[in-house]
Amino acid sequence: MKMNIVSIPGDGIGPEIVAEAKKVLEAAASHYGHEISFTDVLMGGCSIDAYGEPLTQETIDACKAADAVLMGSIGGDTTTSPWYKLPPEKRPEAGLLGIRKALGLFANLRPAYLYPELAQACPLRPDIVKDGFDMVIVRELTGGLYFGPRSTREEGGQLVATDTLVYSEAEIRRVAIRAFDIARKRRKLVTSVDKANVLDSSRLWRKTVEEVAKDYPDVTLKHQLVDSCAMQLVQNPGQFDVVLTENMFGDILSDEASMIAGSLGMLSSASLNETKFGLYEPSGGSAPDIAGKGIANPIATILSAAMMLRYSFDLDREADAVEEAVRQVLADGIRTGDIMPADVDLSSIRRVGTAEMGSEIAARIK
Ligand code: IPM
Ligand code: MN
Repeated sequence: MKMNIVSIPGDGIGPEIVAEAKKVLEAAASHYGHEISFTDVLMGGCSIDAYGEPLTQETIDACKAADAVLMGSIGGDTTTSPWYKLPPEKRPEAGLLGIRKALGLFANLRPAYLYPELAQACPLRPDIVKDGFDMVIVRELTGGLYFGPRSTREEGGQLVATDTLVYSEAEIRRVAIRAFDIARKRRKLVTSVDKANVLDSSRLWRKTVEEVAKDYPDVTLKHQLVDSCAMQLVQNPGQFDVVLTENMFGDILSDEASMIAGSLGMLSSASLNETKFGLYEPSGGSAPDIAGKGIANPIATILSAAMMLRYSFDLDREADAVEEAVRQVLADGIRTGDIMPADVDLSSIRRVGTAEMGSEIAARIK
């Protein structure tokens, strides 16, 4: 197969972690006889520095012409970077939101899985973690508070700011269908998360999800309020299979899920539209504090590349090989700093940097 991939290294640790994901994709392609081409484009802070805007039409067009997009991370330190002196629509994050919208990437899949080897990096007590957990958060990505009308204006001598949480039935239905399709291939449980005791948008969410559920009699649907879900995630994470939720709730809950999985550096993600096309990026940010030091964990990006093989190219065998290589590296005791175990015998552990972690994973592709 010929794979035409656009990559957006972005800012901070982005270029370092994307380089390792490319290394692993190239290893998988050469092992299984595929041809792969990468075209790098700018987005976020580096695009502001080069063109004065976080997302250019050229970048959008290049992404649209590709089979899939591999992304690192965008943004900088919000208190010190000059990018955050710009008006909000010119900042790095506006580029990311813009590309999600321009490519229609409404379904964001964020798997959170506890590798047995990383049990020591999990902050939860063993009696809570029990046999571990394996969930995927399906976050709606192009609606809700992120994209509703917003404004800041003066009223009665003071500033007043508004954000709007808007959802149509069609927006809810299409992401719910994705969640149920995924659940069907897993443990057949969808937990739909909302705030239906307060919000109209959540009441519409619940009603629409219930309608979709009628087409999936083999899948169990549960509703959970978002505050309760945040609590349940750290009290009994094993109960979740597919967690379906709106944009803002999904943003928050997926960070929480990543932490109980050991590190934000482990959490991959796929952002999909109605076709096979997708944008694949780690769930974590640009980590400006460790950028350029060669110590960032590239595993989330490498696992995102595995999701690309699976969802955009239907290469399940190759995706399995990448995931297995990650498992093998962890089993072999190789760790970046963020997933170093605490308080245990370190004699069987080897601490490595970003590039070495990528090479070790690439070497285990088979
Ligand atoms: C994420 C990030 C983004 C989001 C930011 C950078 C705009 O936190 O992908 O979770 O909030 O969606
Ligand atoms: Mn986030």
